[in-house]
Amino acid sequence: METRAPSPPHLAADAPIGLFDSGYGGLTVLREVAALLPEESLTFVGDSARCPYGPKPQADVDRYVQQICRHLVEAGCKLVVIACNTATAAGLAHAQQAFSVPIVGVVAPGARAAAHTTRSRRVGVIATEGTVASGVYTEAIHHMDAGIEVFPVATPRFVEMVEQGLSLGAGDGEGEDGASGGPALARLMMQPAFETAARECLAPLEGCAIDTLVLGCTHFPLLQPLIAKVMGPGVTLVSSAEETALDVREILGRRRALAPAGRQPVRAFYTTGDDVGSFARFGSRVLDTPMDRVGHLTLPPLPPTGAARDERRAR
Ligand code: DGL
Repeated sequence: METRAPSPPHLAADAPIGLFDSGYGGLTVLREVAALLPEESLTFVGDSARCPYGPKPQADVDRYVQQICRHLVEAGCKLVVIACNTATAAGLAHAQQAFSVPIVGVVAPGARAAAHTTRSRRVGVIATEGTVASGVYTEAIHHMDAGIEVFPVATPRFVEMVEQGLSLGAGDGEGEDGASGGPALARLMMQPAFETAARECLAPLEGCAIDTLVLGCTHFPLLQPLIAKVMGPGVTLVSSAEETALDVREILGRRRALAPAGRQPVRAFYTTGDDVGSFARFGSRVLDTPMDRVGHLTLPPLPPTGAARDERRAR
């Protein structure tokens, strides 16, 4: 007797795409998704109250991932992007098992970008402690090409520098309208103190003869000019943002769930932190455009430690 596989649940084309990160870094992924899919509504959660994720135990970050995914799925998102490498490393597989809407991570797209870029097959990866300790990038790059030599380096100071650099910009006369992003932000991140720190952070890559460096944390594209200066012209920097946006378009296209043409998108931003005003101001700098709808988010309770991984949710 012929048996048919159950068809995947219908995804509402009109529904928003959910994205989240520990802080502002995920906005570097959001801006690529917005550029590629301008008609899509987007709902972003910045978990500022618990930033940084990098030094936290993986089991804790996994629980945050399940909690935020649950919130976004229950809010009606048709797809969720875990716009954070640390959170992808800790909770992507679990979330894909727990939720029936597509959950997209940023590690595989970053690994793909690196494998497509390198000629020497020597690739560096800079990321948080959590991402480096998990080994996900080496695994994902080797999945593309097992002959690539991978040099992972934890550079947690870069996360601090981005969060600090964004706040240094406040009240300096630039971006008072909250929308100066782009070149003004790049200038802020190029300050001499940051350059000295960047040289120290990147020193372990000296002598590795890499030709490609993965920015394996969604905060790091904001330091791109600084990192490029330190690494020199022989090293190409790649990040997962553009490749992730392509994955989102491919999945929604295949599921016939792309937003209808001519639709006016709604972009909403939430922070778990108390300072909604700063979140709006600094987030606008990253996006280089004002964030109109910004609010505080109280998340549902954390799932219990070691919650059953095979529990499939209704949506
Ligand atoms: N943006 C996050 C990532 O991609 C990490 C920042 C943090 O440590 O919270 O890994």
